[in-house]
Formats: sequence, structure tokens, C-alpha cells
Amino acid sequence: NWEMGNFTEKEIIRIRKLVGEKAQVIGAVSGGVDSTVAAQLMKEAIGDRFHAILVDTGLMRLNECQQVKETLREHLGINLTIIDGGELFFSRLAGVVEPEKKRKIIGETFIDLFEKEAIRIEEQAKETHLAGKVEWFLQGTLYADLIESLSFKGPSATIKSHHNVGGLPARMMNGQAQLKLIEPLRELFKDEVRAFGRQLGIHEDLVMRHPFPGPGIAIRILGEVTPEHVEIVRKADNIFISMIKEAGIYDQMSQAYAALDTNRAVGVMGDSRVYGMICILRAITSVDFMSAEPFEFPFQLLKNICRRIVNEVDGITRVVYDCTSKPPGTIELE
Ligand code: XMP
Repeated sequence: NWEMGNFTEKEIIRIRKLVGEKAQVIGAVSGGVDSTVAAQLMKEAIGDRFHAILVDTGLMRLNECQQVKETLREHLGINLTIIDGGELFFSRLAGVVEPEKKRKIIGETFIDLFEKEAIRIEEQAKETHLAGKVEWFLQGTLYADLIESLSFKGPSATIKSHHNVGGLPARMMNGQAQLKLIEPLRELFKDEVRAFGRQLGIHEDLVMRHPFPGPGIAIRILGEVTPEHVEIVRKADNIFISMIKEAGIYDQMSQAYAALDTNRAVGVMGDSRVYGMICILRAITSVDFMSAEPFEFPFQLLKNICRRIVNEVDGITRVVYDCTSKPPGTIELE
């Protein structure tokens, strides 16, 4: 519509003025709608002087890294660097079970890798036509993220370190000077970002994608985060989400995922007892993610999903569905 078109053009002009003729901009992308829309906008505004960085934490979903690469680099033509961080994340997470500690390790590891890459990009750029300094840091923060990060500071609220706001730019240094922040989406609501994304030519599947947390699968594993546990969650989640999509109900829920409780539960195979882990399915509807209701699945579909997960995913003997509202539950498990 007219208003959105106007917003795109105005924002591109504003970014060009702000960044100038030479400076370079870096930004982390995740494959989610917010960071993709922000990145595409930067590309439209300043082309290759914008560098998108995807940190592969090893904690993303099945084939997710590959899909992000195809969409951003091949389909949208964004200047994208992928950092393969899996081994480092797993080594730092070994033996850690405490949720906030996981988040902290992941946040810090992310910044370490990102910072190193930003310096490398600048060094490399000196030898090309892109000679300007990396001066800016792009963040796809929405209006709701800002509100939520303020509410996290309240003494009674659940104090959870929030990955999207603060953290990264506060520590992102470029030599001595701290990078300046560009947040083109900071006045927008989610539905506006989606409309904006469609206008920028971003595929409908991505535009309508459920949110996925920065710490990824790590906060969906109750217990230690190991490559084996991540592999199990990936397979279960892939079955869950594909069956939701096949049933044509993906857009009816706001977020859905499979998680893993690494405690053992008994099952039977042939005529012997086997012990395996417990898969927890969660699907919710929500307007603003501050409160949420469990999604009311047709029971037969839920049973079919459970059967497939137990049959196809080695290591799982039980599947349960989480019916907790938020509050008192949260959307993620940790
Ligand atoms: P909760 O679990 O707090 O989640 O009800 C609300 C929304 O925020 C997402 N979430 C996160 N996103 N880093 C993120 O980038 C995090 O640490 C994090 N924790 C929760 C969650 O997926 C949901 O959409």
C-alpha cells in the first residue's frame, strides 16, 4: 500500500544520508523475518557496503543454516559471511545445565566470533573498492523488543537476558570507537515488518515464519547441550513443524517447537524395557508474545505426530504436549 511504499523509500534515503558515501555497516542475521528485512533494506540502500554475518552456532534447526544462505545470498543477493562456530559453542557449553548460564555463554561466544569477523571484514575491504571504515552496526530491533527489554528490568518480572537488545552493540568495538547503531525497524510492529518484507520481495514462507530465539535449540534442551541432544531435537522439531505445515495450520499458531527433557522415561520395544528421553511439544497463539495460550490441536493429529516422533527419532521414548498458558509459563522452556 501507499504508506508502506513511502516508508521503504524514506528509510532508504535516510540510511544513505546517515551512513554517507564510504562507511561500511555490519549486522548479524539469523534467517528470521526481522533481521532479513533489516538486511535487505540495507542492501537496497548501500549495496555491498553492508555485510551480513550469520553465526552458525550449531544450535540452529535442521538445514536452517543452508536455507538462510540460499535465501540471503542467492535469492536476495545480500553480501553474506557465514561463521562456522558449532565446535566452539559446544565446547564452551559442555557440562552446563543452568539456563541463564547457557544464555550467557552463547551470548558471549556469539560476540567473540562476530567481533573477530568484523575486524577481518574491515582488513579485507581495505584492499578493494570498499575502503571505508566499519562504523555502523545494524540491528533489526522492533518496537516490541524495546518495550520487552524495558519490562525485563522490572524487579518482579522474570529476569531473562534478552539477546536482541543491548549486549551486542554495547560490546562491539571497532578499534577504539564503538560502532554506531542503526535500527530501521525500531518504530514498527511485527505485522508492519511483514508487510514491509513482502514489499522488499522477501518470500512469503520467510515473512510468516515463527520467531526462533537467538540461543536456539540450547534453551530447548533441559539438561546438557551436546551435539547428540541437538540432533534429536532437530529431528523431532522437523517432524512436528512439517506435520503442522502439511495440516495447513502453521499460520494459525504464533510459535511451535519440539524440545527435549534429557531425563529418562521407560518404554517398551519388542518385549523388553527401553529407556529414552522425553520430547516436549509446545505450540502457542499470541498477539504480542507477552502472553500466550496453548494451541488447541485436533487430538488425532497430535497423536499422529507423537507416534511419528517416537518411531523415527532414536533416543525418544515419550512425547508430551505442553498446555501451559503464559503467564505463568513462558513460551520457551528455559
Ligand atoms: P518467553 O520464553 O520469554 O519468550 O515467553 C517470548 C518470545 O521471546 C523469544 N525468546 C528469545 N529470543 N533470545 C531471543 O532472541 C532469547 O534469549 C529468548 N528467550 C525467549 C521466544 O522464542 C518467544 O518468541
